[in-house]
Amino acid sequence: MTELIQFDPKKQLFILSNAATTYLMEIVEETYLLHRYWGKRLTDYHFSNRPPLKKRTFAATPLIEKPEISPEFLPFEFPFAHQGDYRNSAISIQRENSETLTRFHYQHYEIKTGIHDLPNLPHARATDAFSQTLVIYLYDQIAELELALFYTIFEDSPIIVRSSQLTNKSQQTIQLQKLLSASLDIPYEQQLSTTFYGTHQKEFQLNRSPIQHGLYQIGSSRGASSPQYPPYLALSKDATEHQGDVHALSLIYSGNHEITLERDQYNQLRVQIGLNSQNFSWKLAPDETFCSPQALLSYSDQGFNGNSQNFHQFFTNHLIHPAWKQKTRPILINSWEMTYYDVNALLLTRLIDAADELGFETVVLDDGWYQNRNSSKTSLGDWTIDQEKFPDGLKPLVDYAKQRNIGFGIWFEPEMISPNTQLIREHPEWVMRSAEYEPILGRSQYILDLTNPEVQQFIIETLAKTITELGVNYVKWDMNRHMTEPFSQSQTFAASEYSHRYMLGLYQIIDTLTSTYPNVLFENCSSGGGRLDPGMLYYFPQTWISDNTDGLDRQQIQYGASYLFPISSMTGHVSDVPNHQTQRLIPFETRAALASSTNMGYEMDIIQLSTEEKEQVKQHIQQYKEERTLLMNGKFYRLDSPFDSNLCAWLFLNQEEVILYVFRNIYQVFDLSLLIKLPVLEATSYYQEAKTQQIYSGSELIHCGLALENPKGDFLVHKIKLKKL
Ligand code: DGJ
Repeated sequence: MTELIQFDPKKQLFILSNAATTYLMEIVEETYLLHRYWGKRLTDYHFSNRPPLKKRTFAATPLIEKPEISPEFLPFEFPFAHQGDYRNSAISIQRENSETLTRFHYQHYEIKTGIHDLPNLPHARATDAFSQTLVIYLYDQIAELELALFYTIFEDSPIIVRSSQLTNKSQQTIQLQKLLSASLDIPYEQQLSTTFYGTHQKEFQLNRSPIQHGLYQIGSSRGASSPQYPPYLALSKDATEHQGDVHALSLIYSGNHEITLERDQYNQLRVQIGLNSQNFSWKLAPDETFCSPQALLSYSDQGFNGNSQNFHQFFTNHLIHPAWKQKTRPILINSWEMTYYDVNALLLTRLIDAADELGFETVVLDDGWYQNRNSSKTSLGDWTIDQEKFPDGLKPLVDYAKQRNIGFGIWFEPEMISPNTQLIREHPEWVMRSAEYEPILGRSQYILDLTNPEVQQFIIETLAKTITELGVNYVKWDMNRHMTEPFSQSQTFAASEYSHRYMLGLYQIIDTLTSTYPNVLFENCSSGGGRLDPGMLYYFPQTWISDNTDGLDRQQIQYGASYLFPISSMTGHVSDVPNHQTQRLIPFETRAALASSTNMGYEMDIIQLSTEEKEQVKQHIQQYKEERTLLMNGKFYRLDSPFDSNLCAWLFLNQEEVILYVFRNIYQVFDLSLLIKLPVLEATSYYQEAKTQQIYSGSELIHCGLALENPKGDFLVHKIKLKKL
């Protein structure tokens, strides 16, 4: 087994290296742990990039004989305050005497085989691929605090996994006010930063900009990773989708997070990611330990697509539960946009019949099935079946579907509670709220206090009962509001611990349920992609990435989300026109192609379709079934960005075939044709186009491109299938 981690005692250098990447840290003056390099694999290293140090006015100089060494500009691996480093710190604490000073100095290290198994938090999974973990211990002798930095590297991935851990070895209780997962000091080289912003129905919007002096921060303090700023940041200089260096970071966490970029006076960049430190403080009693979530550091010299490939493969191999990795996901018909809350037994029976006729594999009963739930204003928490809508319950429907070899799925919003419910009357103390202020509603509902073990048990038992009694094979787990009063009425910990404790409660619940029901497919949803992050992906193999099913907006949303997430983890539905979110009229083929570019399903009234429309849907489903191995397990590459132009193009490929989708939005008279270059094909191979049987060389498709018709009409799609000869 080739070692992936080494320590060179002469150079005082930690070397993490595999076939794709190298990461280097140096111990300086037996004290400071400094960052030296992260990027493409190096064969050897002799400090060629180590900047010559120079004495600077105003710079603190801890060593009298070496005034050129100052924390003001040293590239720290995990910086702390009050030592002369005035940049953003990665850790801060407060002791009983109210001092916030620390001096974490290098102490020792260990190299372990395998991963770092984080207790209670989602984390990179071990597989057959060889991996090693480096633990570097830093110690503050006055405060008696041990800081452990973890670095895991796998033989099969360019991604390095980092996290940190603080242990209180003193006799006094301290307050941990900040503990980030990773911090990196690297030279500023005119990089651009890429992040995503968004909102409900408009997730994953690309945000690329130059980096100015000072601080730039994105994050969430909403109690969820949020569609506003999902945990992703990339740095690139002149990278395109296909070439150039891209360094990207993400976080395996679903709650409050922060990502900070700081460009200092000396043109150095500090890049940080971790738990949001605003309003955070954690009591750490003697001998207690606090662990940060894991950060993912992904480097590629193959542009943004290369970097996305890193994430896609890492998530598939090391994050998604292995049972779901290659498992075929059912093609769903979901009731939501068909009737919203207006569901009933007769309708569901007819939906199952139509699903059977058209080739669907699972019928999903969305919101509205439990008592009195006719709008968003009621019933969350009272999870008993509505007797008026379903006089015989749901079991006969599940069985009816099963007889037709169709699965049955059900919607829940387990973390919520509505006013005027039996549950709130019985357990007013289960509501997340402050003791004195009236809690604020969001979508007419309150959030349950998931830090309370009784609430955790209630949710587990409620879902377990329904899953077992009905025998469903799918659960949609929704979460439709953000936190306003993150406080517990029954637990005694400080309010500043609440948001993280909520996440630990949530993870405990979904860990229990997903391991008790390994064959039930749990789909993550938070008004679409409101909690679309690697943390949820650890438990739930797929996410409903947006409530927006419009054929134009979805291009951007799917394009953006694919920077991080593999296609098999995103779901997309063909819905009706005019589109319910935008009123746009987009042709069926385009809507179908977009949904086919994800884990595909439908969300429209399939009962009322005309014979012709039924035929269209049938054919689409049949075709998707034939192609889904390639679509779900092949490689996905972005080609033309809908953020830049009127075109959006991407392709799927494996060793044998290619499916190319080109979405052309507004018809332009000027465009004689649409020219698409396919730089991800093999130059020396030949490809045959399915419709015309024309053979093209890989090199011509890469360099000349493929000229496609530009017919009149808006929002059209070209689907091109190529067979590798
Ligand atoms: C929000 C989800 O994103 C929708 O798909 C649907 O399930 C509704 N909630 C139901 O209330």
